[in-house]
Amino acid sequence: MPAAARVVAVTKTFGAVRALGGVTLDFPGGQVTALMGENGAGKSTLLKILTGDHRPTDGHLELDGRRVEFTSPADARAAGVRIIPQEPEIIPHVSVAENVYAGALPRRAGRRLDRAELRRRITADLERLGFAGVLDPDLLGSQLTPAQRQLVEILRALTGEAKVIAFDEPTSSLSEHEVDALFALIGRLREAGVAVIYVSHRMQEIFQLADRIAVLRDGELAGVQDAATTDEGQLVRLMVGRDLSAMFSRSRVATDRPVLAVRGLTTDHVRDIDLTVHAGEVVGLAGLIGAGRSELALALAGDLPVRSGTATLDGRPLPFGRPGAVIRAGLGLAPEERKAQALFLQRSIRDNTSIAVLERLRRFRFVRRGAEKQLAQEYADRLRVRTPSIEHEVGKLSGGNQQKVVLARWLARRPKVLILDEPTRGIDVGAKAEIYRIIADLAEQGVAVLVISSELPEVLGLADRVVVMQNGRITGELDRRDATEEAILALAMADDLAATTTGATR
Ligand SMILES: Nc1ncnc2c1ncn2[C@@H]1O[C@H](COP(=O)(O)OP(=O)(O)OP(=O)(O)O)[C@@H](O)[C@H]1O
Ligand SMILES: [Mg+2]
Repeated sequence: MPAAARVVAVTKTFGAVRALGGVTLDFPGGQVTALMGENGAGKSTLLKILTGDHRPTDGHLELDGRRVEFTSPADARAAGVRIIPQEPEIIPHVSVAENVYAGALPRRAGRRLDRAELRRRITADLERLGFAGVLDPDLLGSQLTPAQRQLVEILRALTGEAKVIAFDEPTSSLSEHEVDALFALIGRLREAGVAVIYVSHRMQEIFQLADRIAVLRDGELAGVQDAATTDEGQLVRLMVGRDLSAMFSRSRVATDRPVLAVRGLTTDHVRDIDLTVHAGEVVGLAGLIGAGRSELALALAGDLPVRSGTATLDGRPLPFGRPGAVIRAGLGLAPEERKAQALFLQRSIRDNTSIAVLERLRRFRFVRRGAEKQLAQEYADRLRVRTPSIEHEVGKLSGGNQQKVVLARWLARRPKVLILDEPTRGIDVGAKAEIYRIIADLAEQGVAVLVISSELPEVLGLADRVVVMQNGRITGELDRRDATEEAILALAMADDLAATTTGATR
């Protein structure tokens, strides 16, 4: 039986950048083919060629053994090829239901939207796909969390017959039970004979889901492995072309000098937070998605209003509600949502690395072009940003490479307190190791670091101390010596466990 989809000798260039060079690869029906590779290796580009978003510069596509040519995403859709993109596009001012069926909304006479039919459809589709109760169809696009935006994309792709479905890093912002629902769904698609393509940087997921693993390196196919017989080391070698030394190697350099001291901090979503981070200390902030970790970070950075409580940096009150003043006071936050909160997509890597977070800060800043350029280059090299030059537009980088630029800005700035929110989300394994090394270096220089991460191995590997949150409150704290995945999870779900043992209901 021919593969459901096949790319044959596909090459794709963007100006001087060769994103893909002569890739030939099968995507058989009824199997999950994982696609791995470093940031910028060409994974998203390959998917976009399959889905008609890009035309190959050279080579061609086959579906069920027949050569096809897609001139638009609509062509690919009609042929049963769907993609859940890395960066979902959501219409802000309409509901989830309207976002899902955008372009094919049910109409009544006079072209008025048929709301009753829309409701019937969305209810049936949510039920069929196992997302009933996970996503409220009446929410507006602008109200959605990153996770909910992903779910809308998944629904969009699955509200019709599909032969090939590609997921581009779908779980990076999903909570545990949303991930479970998604994996169950992928299992059903595989059983139904769909060719599933799954792009991720998370090894654990890959081994949980994939039948075969294809690795791209610098736009070329480095190898295809059988998931049952390969291992992590082999995949890393294929991806980065070398062995990686220990991911985490840091010695404890924490001092007793508090740099950030938060007392009774309360916002709309977090309550009564007491938290201290010392010079040279790396504190991990763990918790499930929605626990309030990012809200706490944004409040400290001056981006969300504080209702009560205090915070001091080196003994001086942190100026709540004034992001620019917070930066000048020495606190930097590398936020979770890179596109919305952090990047100037039309500007260069150099500008984005050195630029003040807010344009209005520029006039306070002393600009030294030469030093700036050197710093941007140094971090682009260390983090392995795949780009022709640091003068390249950030908007043209791959998703993971954009994330590296946001991080570089804050790492290079060396603030007194550095808060990193999901610093390695979407980042490849080689650059991850380097980011961990940079965090260790900063701690050694006396920076107080707060790392928010949903990846427990990362929290355990980096942190001197782990603080755990649930439902907007701190539920416990663990020293590095006592921190295990089980202990963190128990605290992250402390309220639920308490509710179960006392037999309380909500
Ligand atoms: N529209 C575009 N214009 C210019 N260059 C592009 C464009 N899209 C991708 N590229 C370049 O092509 C290369 C491959 O990018 P691609 O997005 O496919 O990487 P990826 O493997 O998906 O990486 P990531 O893991 O970071 O998502 C990169 O060097 C990227 O900068
Ligand atoms: Mg990508």
